[in-house]
Order: sequence, then structure tokens, then C-alpha cells
Amino acid sequence: MKKPSEGTRLQKFMSQAGIASRRHAEEMITRGEVRVNGQVVTELGTRIDPARDKVTVSGKRAIAERHVYFLLNKPRGCVTTRSDPEKRKTVMDFLNVDERIYPIGRLDFNTEGVLLLTNDGALANGLMHPKREVKKTYHVKVHGLFTPDDLVKLKEGITLDDGIKTAPAEVMLVARGTSDRNGWLQITIHEGRNRQVHRMMEAIGHEVLRLERVSYAGLTTEGVAPGKFRPLLPPELAKLRRAAGVAQGVPERAGKKARAEQAIPERGRSERAKSERTRPERGRTERPREHGRFEAPNTERPRPERARPERRPERSKPGRRR
Ligand code: URA
Repeated sequence: MKKPSEGTRLQKFMSQAGIASRRHAEEMITRGEVRVNGQVVTELGTRIDPARDKVTVSGKRAIAERHVYFLLNKPRGCVTTRSDPEKRKTVMDFLNVDERIYPIGRLDFNTEGVLLLTNDGALANGLMHPKREVKKTYHVKVHGLFTPDDLVKLKEGITLDDGIKTAPAEVMLVARGTSDRNGWLQITIHEGRNRQVHRMMEAIGHEVLRLERVSYAGLTTEGVAPGKFRPLLPPELAKLRRAAGVAQGVPERAGKKARAEQAIPERGRSERAKSERTRPERGRTERPREHGRFEAPNTERPRPERARPERRPERSKPGRRR
């Protein structure tokens, strides 16, 4: 353990290790659930040396993981989830990284393109927060051609099947493909409603044949083939942090309490704190959690990278294979 002025506060370390928000970590400390080098610690001011001290919570070792950030060019035909009960291919099958990363948001089964993955919950939640209005640009191929009226409707916002109008979108016809029976459109939105682009196209009477996210917060798949991934570069990360309104994983304008709460999503914090985010002494054998917006980390090893799948029209039906 360290002197009062040195090291990392125990509750901060626990939050960085993904065990609990700082507030909940404090509660766990005062309840006597936390040991440092085998000794129960109940004092909230306790500081530790993360490199040397061994912290255990309810008997399990806590390890603070460094944050990592990746961009995957998601291919068609896989689900944006850590593990699929139906045993379909998942985006995690394309990544070969040690850290327990998870996707920022979701692309549908047959949507391809930019997907970011990280273990930095604050950045992910910031990027997905509706208030941040992070821009996502798609290229969408539809059955039939777009009319000027279609474009006006999309630009102004269109009422979807749930009766809620979309925010105005930026739209532009793009020259992709040679068919005079299918239209291609570039559309930029900042909302993240379920199957939003599909539903927008359906609302103007067009079936989606192909959907590709060409940009997320300004990051593109340039140089990354479908099914391949790369780590983000420092300037890209800086850009994402600005877009998310966070500085080094901490929300810029949030108060202390809000920052602590952001470390772990609301639902079931304390239960998870005890069981799922605390790693066992040897290996990682626990079942990771699933939660609302920022999905559970993955502990599975990926399968080898594969060749680009043959592209076929999607011809999706509403509600199928998201
Ligand atoms: N809109 C959709 O319809 N699907 C996606 O995967 C992303 C946006």
C-alpha cells in the first residue's frame, strides 16, 4: 500500500478494473469486501500501487485493463454481439485481441462497414449518447430509383412505423453500380434508432438491397478490407473523445458522481460488481455480462480471418436477423 499522497485510490482502481462505479466501490470497501495483499481494507482514503498490490474483491483478483480501441470493417452475415445464442458468426470472430473489447453500437446482420470496438465504457457511452449527435454515414442500395420527393422527405425527417419522426438527414445520390433499376444513396444521420436506415427506406417505399456504413464519427474503412480490423491511431482517438465529450475516458462536463456512474451502466451494478467484472485468480473463466448499450466484453478466441464473402442483395424483411 502507498502513502496518502501516492498511488491510486482503491475505489478508482476498482472502477478502472470495471468492478463497480467509484461510489459502489466505496460501499464495497466499507462493507469489508475488499482486500489489499490479503488484508481487509475498509478505509476509503487507501491508496495502492496497481503494479505491485494485489487487490481482491470477494475473493477474486481485480485487474485494471488498459483501454484499447479498434476499427473493424464488419462484413455481411455476422451479428454485432459478443456471443450469439443461435451460434451465428459474430463480429468477435474477426478480431484477434487479448483485451475484453465490445462493440460500440450495433450493425444489423447484413450491414457492413465501420464498427468500433473498445473496452473503454466512458468513450463508448459518450459516442452512443443521443445528445452527442455523432454522425454516421451509410451507402444504401435500394430496389427502385429515388425520386426528388424521396430525397426531400429524408432531408426533412420522415415518420417511421412507430409514429416517431426522424431528425433531418443529409442525403446525396451516389454513383455506385450500373443498374437503372436500383438506386444508391449516401445518407448521414446522427440518431441510432433500431434498423433506422432500413425503416427510413421502407417509409419511402424502397426495399434495402445493401447497406454499408462508410463512416462513423468521421472514421472510415479506408485501407481495411471487409473482415479485417486495425487499432485506432492517437489523432483518431482524440477526435472520438471530442465527439463523445470525454477526456481520457472521463466525461468533460460531468460532476464527480456522474463520472463514477458512467464507469458502469446502471442496471444491476452491484450484482455484476460481485460476480462478473471481478476476474478469478487464474485465467478468465467467468461468463461476461450483457447489458444495454455497451455490450459485454468477449473472452473467446477469434477464428482465422476469411476471404470477402460473395455479395448478394440483402432483400431483408422487417424484424429479420438483426
Ligand atoms: N440502419 C439500419 O437499418 N441498419 C444498420 O445496421 C444500421 C443503421
